[in-house]
Amino acid sequence: MHLTREEEEMLAGEGGHATQKAMQILVALGKIYDAEKLVRVSSVQVSGVSYKNLGDAGLEFLSELAKDGRALVKTTLNPAGMSLTDWELQGITRRFAEKQLQVIDAYAKLGVEISCTCTPYLAGNEPRFGQHIAWGESSAVAYANSVIGARTNREGGPSALAASLTGRTPLYGLHIRRNRVPTVAVDVEVQLRSSEDFAAMGYFVGKTVNDGIPYFKGIERAALEDLKTLSAALASSGGIAMFHIEGLTPEAGLGARSLEALTFTRKELTETHSFLNDDGTPDFVSVGCPHCSLTELASLAKLLSGRRVRREFWVCCSREVKRQGDEAGYSKPIEESGAKFALDTCMVVAPVEELGYRVVATNSAKACHYLRNEGLKVRLMTLEECVAEATRSG
Ligand code: F3S
Repeated sequence: MHLTREEEEMLAGEGGHATQKAMQILVALGKIYDAEKLVRVSSVQVSGVSYKNLGDAGLEFLSELAKDGRALVKTTLNPAGMSLTDWELQGITRRFAEKQLQVIDAYAKLGVEISCTCTPYLAGNEPRFGQHIAWGESSAVAYANSVIGARTNREGGPSALAASLTGRTPLYGLHIRRNRVPTVAVDVEVQLRSSEDFAAMGYFVGKTVNDGIPYFKGIERAALEDLKTLSAALASSGGIAMFHIEGLTPEAGLGARSLEALTFTRKELTETHSFLNDDGTPDFVSVGCPHCSLTELASLAKLLSGRRVRREFWVCCSREVKRQGDEAGYSKPIEESGAKFALDTCMVVAPVEELGYRVVATNSAKACHYLRNEGLKVRLMTLEECVAEATRSG
């Protein structure tokens, strides 16, 4: 792989230990994927933030880099394992909290913005069409590639951080136009009536296609919330990092000629909804996977106004969207209902299973997928059904 003189110097350690380590990671990655060179990135989203996933080994790795490393480009952070301020209210143990705060401290020393959200594109990290970025949150990767038209591979925690510390990433995969063309057509023959229908379709297609690039036909309109939940579902049941929607997404013009075709009908929709619904009465309700948009806060404010929640109810969103919700008057009725804003975190990366909950109601197929892997039972519901479940007596 070709390196510029500046990159050679970084590799030789002239920029310090952390930069050298980062460059070693990128060069190794570039060799594996046969990249011709490194390309400059305009932003980074780092995943691997929850102490639940990082453990002590991850914390040690970060602390070592934080001794002399520094982010060279705008770098934002995925959700942590708890609210950074209200962790006690969430029932998080002191031991977990102390470790989690050490992780955050290391990222802060590295110059990473402590944004703690999986929707960085709603909270100030907004790449433009055609820009190279290095993002590590799978739902945000699919959203950025597909909806924005920015270019990123699905980075792991170390490779995203390496991109941040050097401002570069290897040029391969979805950074190259020819690799962004669709590989499978999906004829959508059922009307998708809610974001949860988009989530169910994403879950089905992700599981079926696994790591291709679907080209959806037959979808006339899709709101931001539909696209973010579709992105998350495609990337959870499968490894999909990009999709196109005919007439809607910016690179759909790359075409879908003579592709293998898949159909998504009422049958697949019903079967997927049913697959994502276990038996059992929910004792925990959580919405905002990926983190809520302002529009979702507006809907929740309307639904919860004048009502009381009767079981634990988390509304996961970024501090930035919460701030916008405060200004717009949406946060007050949500908080007055007894629902809790889960800022900086979410129902998947927080140690929910240790908090004693057994059955989770959520409007996210991605959350269903991961929570079920942790041994919890799940119920995929619409936002309205989640509120009805949370406020139901008995
Ligand atoms: Fe975000 Fe957590 Fe879902 S990180 S996409 S809310 S699993």
